[in-house]
Amino acid sequence: MRMPKRVKMVEVGPRDGLQNEKAVIHTGVKIALIDRLTEAGLPVIEATSFVSPKWVPQMADNAQVMAGITRREGVGYPVLVPNLKGLDTAIAAGADEIAVFAAASETFSRKNINCSIAESLERFAEVINAACGRGVRVRGYVSCALGCPYEGDVLPSAVAAVASLLYALGCYEISLGDTIGTGTPGKAQALVDTVAARVPLDRLAVHFHDTYGQALANILAALERGVAVVDSSVAGLGGCPYASGASGNVASEDLLYMLNGLGIETGVDLGRLVAAGSYISNQLGRPSGSRVSRAMGCGESERGELSES
Ligand code: HMG
Ligand code: MG
Repeated sequence: MRMPKRVKMVEVGPRDGLQNEKAVIHTGVKIALIDRLTEAGLPVIEATSFVSPKWVPQMADNAQVMAGITRREGVGYPVLVPNLKGLDTAIAAGADEIAVFAAASETFSRKNINCSIAESLERFAEVINAACGRGVRVRGYVSCALGCPYEGDVLPSAVAAVASLLYALGCYEISLGDTIGTGTPGKAQALVDTVAARVPLDRLAVHFHDTYGQALANILAALERGVAVVDSSVAGLGGCPYASGASGNVASEDLLYMLNGLGIETGVDLGRLVAAGSYISNQLGRPSGSRVSRAMGCGESERGELSES
């Protein structure tokens, strides 16, 4: 057991969470959500993505979101970037950290970013190189790390191969994405062990969607292997538009409640985080996906402005 004393929570709700919403969400609501997450003390908040608006229309207001948020010193606001065009627009909008996103499954790679894994890595090599040359830090994702919506099981060795290439290209951290949430704790530990043989353990993050209700168990399993960076989404928002049926990430409130119970430091305030989750749930007009928020009596939605559209 190598349980960490401190965990870095990476909040992905404003991007991974909201990218999948069908109703138009006002830019002001996105900005207010990010500002509330900043107030809650989260160290990293993935703010938006600079992808094609034809592929993901919900993120089309990326530059306005970046212009509107109130940044706090020491907090990271990375944005997702698929190519050099996205890097240029992200930097023009003030981003100083980006995330590139490869996959461990060929079919998902084609569906999500319209190219093979090898082509994506060539493209990301250019993006990472250009970003680093302009003083922009780069995080890397490997999607379908524990299963693919099109190909089923994915070998840990296939994930490790992509993760180690992204690391070698210059990503400072690699997030292993269980995009469709099919993973279970034993598989999560085997994955961490296999990838950690090729990428330093302290450079690894885990990113569990909770589709099958396994996310917290998987996170605990990864913590036991020494992983100390965990992605989560406020109110359990989200999913991937190119992974049908995938639900949101583990709710940030539920993750924090568990970490608090384990005596693991995060620097995040549970009350403020729950308030941020209530805010966005009310705006979306539906109950929070966080069990902790609902247990605290804060997860019921009032009719929000979006529910009228
Ligand atoms: P493509 O169609 O092959 O791109 O898409 P293209 O280079 O041929 O360009 C086509 C059009 O898109 C052109 O416009 C470009 O200018 C435009 P047109 O001439 O037709 O008017 N375009 C862009 N516009 C704005 N920003 C850009 C950009 N790039 C091209 N950056 C592409 C390829 C990668 C662009 C597309 O497939 C795409 O944007 N995909 C993004 C999909 C996405 O965002 N998926 C969700 C995020 S991944 C995820 O959620 C998983 C994760 O959470 C981890 C996990 O859970 O496992 C990270
Ligand atoms: Mg995701």
